[in-house]
Amino acid sequence: MDTNTPIIRKPVVDDGYPIHQLIKSCPPLDLNSAYLYLLQATHFAETCVVAEFKGKVCGFLSGYIKPGAPDTFFLWQVAVGDELRGQGMARQLMDAVLAGDACKQVRFLETTITPDNQASWGLFRAFARDRKAELNNQVMFTSEQLGGDHEPEMLVQIGPFTPAG
Ligand SMILES: CC(C)(COP(=O)(O)OP(=O)(O)OC[C@H]1O[C@@H](n2cnc3c(N)ncnc32)[C@H](O)[C@@H]1OP(=O)(O)O)[C@@H](O)C(=O)NCCC(=O)NCCS
Repeated sequence: MDTNTPIIRKPVVDDGYPIHQLIKSCPPLDLNSAYLYLLQATHFAETCVVAEFKGKVCGFLSGYIKPGAPDTFFLWQVAVGDELRGQGMARQLMDAVLAGDACKQVRFLETTITPDNQASWGLFRAFARDRKAELNNQVMFTSEQLGGDHEPEMLVQIGPFTPAG
C-alpha cells in the first residue's frame, strides 16, 4: 500500500488515544478526555472518520445524528494536522462521513464555531457554497454558559443539501 497517500476510514478503538493527541495539537479545539475519544472511536464510529497518513492519525472528524432529527448531522470536531492542511483534507473528511450509510437521510449539517475561528468559518462556508445550500448562524452557547472564560459558540446550520454533494 502507498503510505504516502492519506487513507480515510472509520476509526477503531486503537485510534482513540492518537485522536486525543491530534486534537491536543490543533488549537483552538477544546481537548476532551482520552476516554471521550475512545467512545467516539467505538460507539460513534459510524459517524466519525479518521485520516491516516504514513501510519499516523493526521485527521479526525467526529459527529452524530442529532437526537430527534434523523436528517441532521451534528459535526462535533474536525481537525487536520499541520502536515495535511490546505490540501482539501477537512472537506474530504466531511464528504466521507456524509457518504456513509449512517447519513443516508441527512440533508442538514450543524456545527458550532467560535466567532474568531477563521479556518472553521472558511471550511463551512465553502461546504455550503459547493453544496448550494444556505448557511445560517445564531448563538448556541453563550460565553457565560461555557463558564465565562470561553468564546461563545455559534450554531451554524447548513442545508438542505443532497447527500451526494
Ligand atoms: C479547520 C481545519 C480542519 C481545516 O482543514 P484543511 O484540511 O486545511 O481544510 P481544507 O483544505 O479542506 O479547506 C476547505 C475549505 O476551507 C477553507 N479554509 C481552510 N483553512 C482556512 C483558513 N485558515 N482560513 C480561511 N479558510 C480556510 C479553504 O480555503 C477551503 O475553501 P475553498 O474550497 O474555498 O478553497 C484545520 O485548519 C484545523 O484542524 N484547524 C484547527 C482545528 C479547528 O479549528 N477545527 C474546526 C472547528 S471544529
